[in-house]
Amino acid sequence: FSLKSYNTFGIDVKAKLYVRFDSIEELQQLLQMPEIKPEPKLILGGGSNLLFTQDFNGVVLQNGIKGIRILREDDEYAYVQAGGGEIWHDLVLFCLEHNLGGVENMSLIPGTVGAAPLQNIGAYGVELKDVFHELEAVHLQTGELHTFDHQACNFGYRESVFKHAAKGQYVVTSVILRLHKNHTLNTSYGAIKSTLEEMNITQPTIQDVSAAVCAIRRSKLPDPAQIGNAGSFFKNPEIPIALYDVLKEKHPDMPAYPVSDSTVKVPAGWLIEQCGWKGKVIGNYGVHKNQALVLVNYGGASGEQVRQLAFDIIHSVEEKFGISLQPEVNIL
Ligand code: EPU
Repeated sequence: FSLKSYNTFGIDVKAKLYVRFDSIEELQQLLQMPEIKPEPKLILGGGSNLLFTQDFNGVVLQNGIKGIRILREDDEYAYVQAGGGEIWHDLVLFCLEHNLGGVENMSLIPGTVGAAPLQNIGAYGVELKDVFHELEAVHLQTGELHTFDHQACNFGYRESVFKHAAKGQYVVTSVILRLHKNHTLNTSYGAIKSTLEEMNITQPTIQDVSAAVCAIRRSKLPDPAQIGNAGSFFKNPEIPIALYDVLKEKHPDMPAYPVSDSTVKVPAGWLIEQCGWKGKVIGNYGVHKNQALVLVNYGGASGEQVRQLAFDIIHSVEEKFGISLQPEVNIL
């Protein structure tokens, strides 16, 4: 079974078996089947955060669980539940339609609702953890349904328990978000401010903020439907302030954002651009011309080639700055 159209990088690899499930019960039944039970399993959402470098010798399970609804509300909040197989941006649109605030900055992030908690998706100053309430997930071995509250997910920057202690063990079947009825906008991100100004909007609504975010993303990030990519390939590294101070002497315009009293976050895109990689084309793959953090497949590149490019980038950033970049994309 070819996985080419199931990963946004468009890498052509194969899996032994592919099955899609549309409900919890269906998933639980599948997990008990003799053709599936003993096999290695890969849970697929939108396939927008992974790079295949070889065939997958097991079963690919695609989450098709749909449904978005307001579970309950009080004066301040509405609790919205969405199936793990829903497209993330469709959930954002639902919230905008119902005038519920909190996810507008995360408009147009590719991928599914079920995949969102795994890497605590985030953009323009807001992360999933800021609106997350609870999720349900099926354990792959036992088939049992478990609930994870905010604390159990152990969210960090592009991190959660599902990348560590619970890695590869669960399928997220639904997510509940807690959204504001009275909106507090987050327009602190410079690009949002300037885009709203360009749009001549002085009293922005959540719908305006979403429109601004969509415009910024469309101008900077390649559309996976057109050019294969998986968004940011690397995480923005956190480094000790002491190291930043040393580097700043040599590179006075190096940007950084405070994280704690002792660390700052440096944009990996800047580091990669300084090493001369931005816009680089190697045959049919390379580094995006508008955002150096994004690696692209123009068609026909292998996962191994893209991985090699990532290694070369890591190596040159290490050499120039002494900072080691970590992939954000899941390399399989
Ligand atoms: N920059 C450069 N050159 C580049 C790219 C960036 O110099 O080619 C520098 C600039 O100084 C710029 C700064 O990096 O001001 C920040 O760039 P940008 O606003 O594009 O954001 P980012 O830090 O590169 C992160 C997330 C994105 C998210 C944006 C917006 C990570 C790994 N990436 O990128 O998330 O959309 O912020 O909030 O944290 C993703 O995770 O897949 C993703 C796209």
